[in-house]
Amino acid sequence: GKKEAAAPMDAASASASAPAAAVVYTVGTDAAYAPFESQNEKGEIVGFDIDVVSAAAKKAGIEVKFVNTPWEGIFNALGQGDRDLLVSAITITDERKQTMDFSSPYFDAQQLIAVKDDSKVGKFDDLKKLKVGVQTGTTGDEVVTKLIGKTSTAIKRFESTPLALKELESGGVDAVVADNGVVIHYVTNNTGAKFKTVADTSFTPEQYGIAVKKGNTELLEKINKGLADIKADGTYAQIYSKYFGA
Ligand code: ARG
Repeated sequence: GKKEAAAPMDAASASASAPAAAVVYTVGTDAAYAPFESQNEKGEIVGFDIDVVSAAAKKAGIEVKFVNTPWEGIFNALGQGDRDLLVSAITITDERKQTMDFSSPYFDAQQLIAVKDDSKVGKFDDLKKLKVGVQTGTTGDEVVTKLIGKTSTAIKRFESTPLALKELESGGVDAVVADNGVVIHYVTNNTGAKFKTVADTSFTPEQYGIAVKKGNTELLEKINKGLADIKADGTYAQIYSKYFGA
């Protein structure tokens, strides 16, 4: 939850005129989702989402601190107040809107299929008779579950998307369905894996939002204002091209 930033221990801060310690908002993110959020060699959390929220927070005049939070428990962490905000390439869905509030959308996404480059899969429907890997509880999991059936043993669910993609590499699954940005990033950066991507028109457009605890309108308004400001002044476009090109 909210943490008080340590105030410098000097005479000035001890005086009555010292400014109140700034509130630092804790932002949960499942940092295994490059290029949106990942950990670099130094263990720092980096990525598109991190840059967007950092820039928006700066405009809104709030301080944020990112905390790696496994996807599995990310929504509970928000609900329980262990995190003030979530940025984790989270698709805004009607179901999620019942238990949390979302910022205005900040990124457009869609599901994409990854297969080995010699695979005969040409469309989503072809996955019906195959073994498919997904990250548990993602929108990728939802669409595959809908196609194949909830109890099907043909769906292999993983804690993280990279684990699902590793399984595709080793042949444990025939396909992985996940967000396009992450699949494209993985395929481009792991040419040794010999993957190709398959798009399908049946996948509906998705939009990412920053989540706050239901009813936390004060923080939501600040984030929305920050987002609007970085979109208006070109900061968002700069961040976008840093990660996705022109
Ligand atoms: N956009 C998808 C969803 O909301 C996947 C997000 C997964 N994010 C992550 N950092 N692992 O379900």
